[in-house]
Amino acid sequence: MKIAVYPGSFDPFTLGHLDILEQAAPLYDEICVAILKNSAKRSFFKIEEKAEIIRCCVEAKGLRNVTISSFDGLLIDFCQKLGAGYIIRGLRTITDFEYEQQIHSVNWNLDRQVHTVYFMSNPEYSFLSSSIVRELGSLGADITPYVPAGTVDYLQRRLMENAQ
Ligand code: COA
Repeated sequence: MKIAVYPGSFDPFTLGHLDILEQAAPLYDEICVAILKNSAKRSFFKIEEKAEIIRCCVEAKGLRNVTISSFDGLLIDFCQKLGAGYIIRGLRTITDFEYEQQIHSVNWNLDRQVHTVYFMSNPEYSFLSSSIVRELGSLGADITPYVPAGTVDYLQRRLMENAQ
């Protein structure tokens, strides 16, 4: 069985992340979207909220082979526990490439049985990041073009709450 892990902080999950997930999903038997628990970056959304947002997108898109989980510690340890042979990552720009090369080298040295597979981001989302969504939302701008349809109202409300 071909199992992949799509890791990230997903704070929050955006149309850019969904684009990568939809490209990867048909190629694997199972993809686990793995939310990083203890990022060095302070998280705006709680793990449960992040998972719920992702669940809503996965259901709306009918991605039946996608599961959602969270992890702390090493990504490679999580992959090994799950029996995953692949890590999915997205590339938006050349800047991502340099960062990804660094992560890849570390993971490759930890376990050469786990391969990282990269998907090019849809150019429409090559500038998009979770912090852009958080900033726009908290300043009252419309985030509809950047986040999955079923999540707009919830995200907009949560981000505005924080701004008040
Ligand atoms: N669309 C939209 N945004 C994207 C994107 C895409 N396709 N790809 C990346 N991003 C954005 C994210 O929204 C995020 O934006 P933000 O900084 O504004 O919040 C940023 O790019 C980076 O996020 P992400 O891809 O989630 O990476 P990360 O740095 O948060 O996490 C892990 C990367 C989880 C893979 C890495 O930290 C990890 O493996 N940690 C576990 C510890 C470990 O094993 N370490 C050894 C390996 S280094």
